[in-house]
Amino acid sequence: MSDSTRETTGAPADTTAPAEPPRGPLHADVVVVGAGLTGVVTAHLLADGGADVVVLDAGTAPTTTTTARSTGKLSVLQGTRLTEVARHGDDTLHHYLAAGKAGLAWLRRTLGDLGVPVEDRDDLTVATTPEQAAVLDDVLAAGLRGGLPVHWEDRPPYPGPTHGAVRLPDQGQVDPLRALAALRARLRSRGVRLHDGVRVRQVRRTSSGVALRTTRGTVVADRVVLATGTPPGRLGGLFLRLHAGRSLLTTWDVARPEDLPPGFGATMSITAGSPVRSLRTAGGLLMVGGEGYTVGREPDPAARLAALDAWTREHLPVGGARHAWAAQDYGTDTGVPFVGPVTPGDDRVLVATGYAKWGLTTAAAAGLALAGRLLGEPEDWGPALEPWARPARPTTAAAATFAEQSKGWACAVTRPAGERAGARRVSRVCPHLGGVVRWNDQEQSWDCPVHGSRFAADGALLEGPATEALAPR
Ligand SMILES: Cc1cc2nc3c(=O)[nH]c(=O)nc-3n(C[C@H](O)[C@H](O)[C@H](O)COP(=O)(O)OP(=O)(O)OC[C@H]3O[C@@H](n4cnc5c(N)ncnc54)[C@H](O)[C@@H]3O)c2cc1C
Ligand code: FES
Repeated sequence: MSDSTRETTGAPADTTAPAEPPRGPLHADVVVVGAGLTGVVTAHLLADGGADVVVLDAGTAPTTTTTARSTGKLSVLQGTRLTEVARHGDDTLHHYLAAGKAGLAWLRRTLGDLGVPVEDRDDLTVATTPEQAAVLDDVLAAGLRGGLPVHWEDRPPYPGPTHGAVRLPDQGQVDPLRALAALRARLRSRGVRLHDGVRVRQVRRTSSGVALRTTRGTVVADRVVLATGTPPGRLGGLFLRLHAGRSLLTTWDVARPEDLPPGFGATMSITAGSPVRSLRTAGGLLMVGGEGYTVGREPDPAARLAALDAWTREHLPVGGARHAWAAQDYGTDTGVPFVGPVTPGDDRVLVATGYAKWGLTTAAAAGLALAGRLLGEPEDWGPALEPWARPARPTTAAAATFAEQSKGWACAVTRPAGERAGARRVSRVCPHLGGVVRWNDQEQSWDCPVHGSRFAADGALLEGPATEALAPR
């Protein structure tokens, strides 16, 4: 988020020398596209297993990943997520939790080796209304069915009145940028070729493997892992089953630590419903997140930040506001992440996405599942997370997407081009599938309401399934 009054997230630099970008056709056993947490964990495990791996990332620094811009909670409780997973039955619930626990254990062990602290925290899902308390009953039931040591708490350490909470002890929190930088540095130090600034524009399956058309030439591989959030382009049609959500995060000085609820500092918490507030403390700062919205469908993102700030000042003993930023992640139509072949039965192209803002432990789990699959040592719980493990579910989100596209086209007829101060005039038609982009005044970006691609004021591609910039007008 561009913000003139606050700093953006500070990042310890990844000081290891980057690999030279590929110039001619480059070959590897496995190409991992995306160097966020999913990509680096997958690449690590593949390299450990003896595979020749190349990692490509469109960004030029880890600071732009969703991983680095997340809240940094490492938990298998995950707000109300277990209730969605539990709808698919106890087997799916057990497999999802086994995946999360394996991911968390891998992160604790590996980050411990790298000297990146994972601080112990209990995780709380908190009800601030009677309706949320009813949701919490389901969270508690799902946790117990899944064998988690969850328990109900009448008076949780949360600011303001509550209607109880579910607590899961012994989870963790981490500085996600520091963790990612350390993992990337270790990958490079072990000789894995990690190329930043290389965007994959097309993924083409061939008789012998996969050919990737990138902004720096062609890359050929036996297998490809797409660890890009939503897959680039239209591959496998998975973008139709994903929805892009964006949320805000802020950090604050704590003016009067003694006024925080007793025990607050030993927990991380999130509310079980609207307004979502996600809280934790670290390094003397308070982190407050919330005000999520669907990318490109929020008329006034700046008002959302103002609402989050006002809530924070009203409920917490804060001093100055330090940082504010936004990040986006993808949910799936089934409420279970997609980790596996992008099209059924074809292992040449694998994907991992759909973490719904709970992708730190799940990204590590996805790395374990994908690397295990490619190395011939699959995880027992892996099949439960495959994209096609359960039928696609037409959702109200799909209907809303169609409505947005129709509305957008009507608007594009009257205002076909967009122009912002200092930036060139650009077409408002998204190059992915023709959605009409909306101006985001908070982040100074053009955001597509259809599948969540985002573009800078001058039309440059920032993120999402689009693979090209907005055309100049
Ligand atoms: C506001 C917010 C808070 C969150 N907080 C938490 C939390 O506390 N705990 C938790 O567990 N989860 C949290 N999450 C979710 C978590 O951050 C994500 O699920 C996870 O980081 C996703 O990791 P990733 O590696 O899949 O994606 P990313 O970290 O986004 O990495 C994807 C990479 O792919 C690259 N890429 C994309 N397209 C291409 C292309 N065509 N060619 C080449 N490279 C490409 C990008 O440049 C990027 O570097 C949060 C999410 C949000 C939005
Ligand atoms: S992101 Fe698909 S149409 Fe814009």
